Amino acid sequence: MELGILFMLLLSTLFLSGANSATFTVTNNCPFTIWPATLTGGGTSESISTGFELSSKASLPLNISPPWSGRFWARSGCSTDASGKLVCATGDCASGQVPCNGAGGTPPVSLVEFTLASNNGQDFYDVSLVDGFNLPVSVTPQGGSGDCKASSCPNDVNHVCPPEFSIKGSDGSVIACKSACLALNKPEYCCSGAFATPDKCPPNTYSKIFKDQCPQAYSYAYDDKTSTFTCSGGANYSITFCP
Ligand SMILES: *[C@@H]1O[C@H](CO)[C@@H](O)[C@H](O)[C@H]1NC(C)=O
Repeated sequence: MELGILFMLLLSTLFLSGANSATFTVTNNCPFTIWPATLTGGGTSESISTGFELSSKASLPLNISPPWSGRFWARSGCSTDASGKLVCATGDCASGQVPCNGAGGTPPVSLVEFTLASNNGQDFYDVSLVDGFNLPVSVTPQGGSGDCKASSCPNDVNHVCPPEFSIKGSDGSVIACKSACLALNKPEYCCSGAFATPDKCPPNTYSKIFKDQCPQAYSYAYDDKTSTFTCSGGANYSITFCP
């Protein structure tokens, strides 16, 4: 009897303190509303939000229990169409709703990719422009041990996007930028086929445009050396759009 009560107390304490879970704080520093989204690739995380609206300067904390891998991105220019479906100008997940319900964002879209280790092991994270760019974004660890450096793509790649790779909004401004792989779908840009190893797939003219703007982000598939970040010890993370 006493043991039973003790066990229940222990369980509720674990629950209330959110033991073994990382807090991700998603912040919108853009001067407009965005609709961030998450896609779980692997892990046990039960019910993290798959999409939500964030007005300018707003933040939302999400608790994620490792082990977990997945991605974050943000949709922009969303509105409700005549049939009541949410449609977004960039990063749309085609769910027709604010939650993405397990669907990914349509490229070109800036991605934040995470692999969270259990038992305070080593987490991996990166900002990826491999599928193109829509919004600047940064990842900043809080607490933790080891490297734990921030990774940021702080610049608006849309301003330097080659015209043939540009996605334009209704006002004619560039709202997203395709990567060369996405736009041209050639093995030398996608590091596929005969170019499927790092030594055969060096940076290219187009990936360098992305890398100049965002040196810490993946500009193409084999950009690992400068673009993969790690942090151990159960850190929390801030993800900020338009940092
Ligand atoms: C992460 O944030 C939670 C509160 O949200 C806090 O209790 C915990 O100590 C933080 N972890 C680290 C490593 O800073």
